Amino acid sequence: MLRIEADLTTTLAGFARAGDLNDLQILSHAERVTYTSFRLGQQLQLPQNELEELVLSALIHDIGVSTTGEKLKLADLQPQQGTASAHCKRGYELLKPTKLFSGLALNVLEHHNYYSPDLRIIPAIIHVADRLEFVIRKDKYYLWQKEDVLAYFRSKEGTLFHPDVVEALESLTLVPSFWLDLQYENYQAFQEELQSFRRLLTLDELEEIAQLVATIVDSKSPFTGAHSQGVTRIAGFLATAMGMSEHRVRLIKIAGLLHDIGKLAIPDEILMYPGPLDKKQRAIMKQHTYHTYYLVGSIGPGVQPLQRWAAYHHERLNGTGYPFALKAEDLEPESRLMAVADITQALLETRPYRQGLAHEKVKEILQNNVNAGHIDGEITALAIEHLDEISALVF
Ligand SMILES: [Fe+2]
Ligand SMILES: [Fe+2]
Ligand SMILES: [Fe+2]
Repeated sequence: MLRIEADLTTTLAGFARAGDLNDLQILSHAERVTYTSFRLGQQLQLPQNELEELVLSALIHDIGVSTTGEKLKLADLQPQQGTASAHCKRGYELLKPTKLFSGLALNVLEHHNYYSPDLRIIPAIIHVADRLEFVIRKDKYYLWQKEDVLAYFRSKEGTLFHPDVVEALESLTLVPSFWLDLQYENYQAFQEELQSFRRLLTLDELEEIAQLVATIVDSKSPFTGAHSQGVTRIAGFLATAMGMSEHRVRLIKIAGLLHDIGKLAIPDEILMYPGPLDKKQRAIMKQHTYHTYYLVGSIGPGVQPLQRWAAYHHERLNGTGYPFALKAEDLEPESRLMAVADITQALLETRPYRQGLAHEKVKEILQNNVNAGHIDGEITALAIEHLDEISALVF
């Protein structure tokens, strides 16, 4: 049986990276904020369980940001009280209903709150760590700036920022390696310290995270709003029809939920472009499966099958696919069925410029893809045979 050692922290860190990849100005935002938060939390001598809560909350603090425009607005150093709150609320709403993260939802909701005596320490820390990213000049030596940075936070202490957190930042000005690690993104020591939080996810929990990813990916693609969910259902249907074990079907569905996670790394102007893409735009869009491969890879040891099943859905049997230009012999049944599920879902789903296609047309296009050497003939025959049942699964 396939065993995946999915680790909570590395999975979240990897997935948080996805949203930061689409804008080169704020690359690694989640990771940097988490690193600073952790160091502040240590200065404040938070107990281990609170440090863990802090790290997890910091990793997903901006999970509710849904457009690049919104992200750029967050660079505003003096936001009006409440203007940053849309992404906090959305983050809260995404996390609150989950089993795994409902306990972190409030931290995400409050991470831009102005200081008040009843503001809890975890969101107060994330707030300072997050603002530090916008106060510090990335093109200058941090060690030249730390006094000015501190002066900025001091000037807003007790109004915008929690005085205890500002004090913790002050003690960090005495630790050069804190600033150097942040500047050179050298997180080796930090990651070793995080080892003590290692916590393996159950399959249910991994599935819940994958669901969250699918919800976010689908909501970012307004023209194909339920694509990931649809692909997942079709993939599950095909896998079951092919006689795969229940465990394998579940893993395939998780791969289905994650298959387009790499789209989070595609800039909005391409992802949300209202019409057919030109050649240059297509080249960028095609990067998404490359990102899917490496983002899914962050889940943990043993995850390679999931990586392949999720990321190979645009590979073609005759070697004309992307991003690895694999050939038939590299593509196992699970990857092949994901490609069939992806195309079938795309043909059945309604887009703003067209309704889902009629079944006869869907069958014809699927068969053309087989004839062209793109997708697996037997799996496609299965999809064609059961197209009525399959189309009842998708919206
Ligand atoms: Fe934020
Ligand atoms: Fe942030
Ligand atoms: Fe895709």
